Amino acid sequence: MRPEPPSGSVVSNHAKACVVNATLTQRLGIRHPVILAPMGGASGGRLAAAVSNAGGLGLVGGGYGDPAWLDPELAIAAKAAQAPWGVGLITWTANRQLVDPCVSYGPAAFLLSFGDPRPYAQAIKATGCTLICQVQDLAGALMARDAGAEIIVAQGTEAGGHGGLRSTFPLVPAVVDAVAPIPGVAAGGIADGRGLAAALMLGAQAARIGTHFYACREALSLEAMRPSAASQRATATRLRAPACSTLCGGSNSSLKISP
Ligand SMILES: Cc1cc2nc3c(=O)[nH]c(=O)nc-3n(C[C@H](O)[C@H](O)[C@H](O)COP(=O)(O)O)c2cc1C
Repeated sequence: MRPEPPSGSVVSNHAKACVVNATLTQRLGIRHPVILAPMGGASGGRLAAAVSNAGGLGLVGGGYGDPAWLDPELAIAAKAAQAPWGVGLITWTANRQLVDPCVSYGPAAFLLSFGDPRPYAQAIKATGCTLICQVQDLAGALMARDAGAEIIVAQGTEAGGHGGLRSTFPLVPAVVDAVAPIPGVAAGGIADGRGLAAALMLGAQAARIGTHFYACREALSLEAMRPSAASQRATATRLRAPACSTLCGGSNSSLKISP
């Protein structure tokens, strides 16, 4: 029998941290701690359903909320997913005329990102959807917690699309500690099992992954961009503005993605 390490020591704290918490997977009813990022225009119903049917949580990427795009994609997800799936909107363009129709398709989870979730949080939760908020700093994390978020995603600057200024792996433990016991998720620069394992060791209960899924055939990514997303090297990353990176001729995070 292995002796117990002295209480409070670095070893015992590390041992406690290594216990993977399954609260999030149980709450969402998923088998794997992987969440598809709701990439606006790229995470359509087919990709969301594929991720959910494979045991993760697929999120349809509603982006800025164009109903002409959203309605058919939500209908595809609702029909094709045989497991919980969800939808994500960019909060700063959300309104009840967008939120309510999304909920009518029966998503199990609703993600709000980039902005104040408080105007919609209670309405979303009242429908039975799990409210997930993506944040880029501690102030955003505390706002999401106070709004009633049930899962909080810490999005580091490595993330594709819009992003904040703090790097993923320093940000994740800070957010996890600040919002506990609300489950935290890591986003930004994670694309394989090692990255997921590292995120779990930092206290996240799942990884939210975008760029890697952008290269999938089920994604509605631009045909011309897909091969380059799978083959470009990290140095192809471009920064468009201090807080906003974009796919620019290849992968937009420091990832080497396998086709
Ligand atoms: C092409 C693309 C579009 C994105 N669009 C959105 C979006 O509309 N809403 C959102 O919340 N996040 C969006 N994201 C960011 C993701 O939610 C997530 O934080 C990010 O993809 C994680 O980092 P990774 O790309 O390194 O996996 C987008 C990411 C990419 C790559």
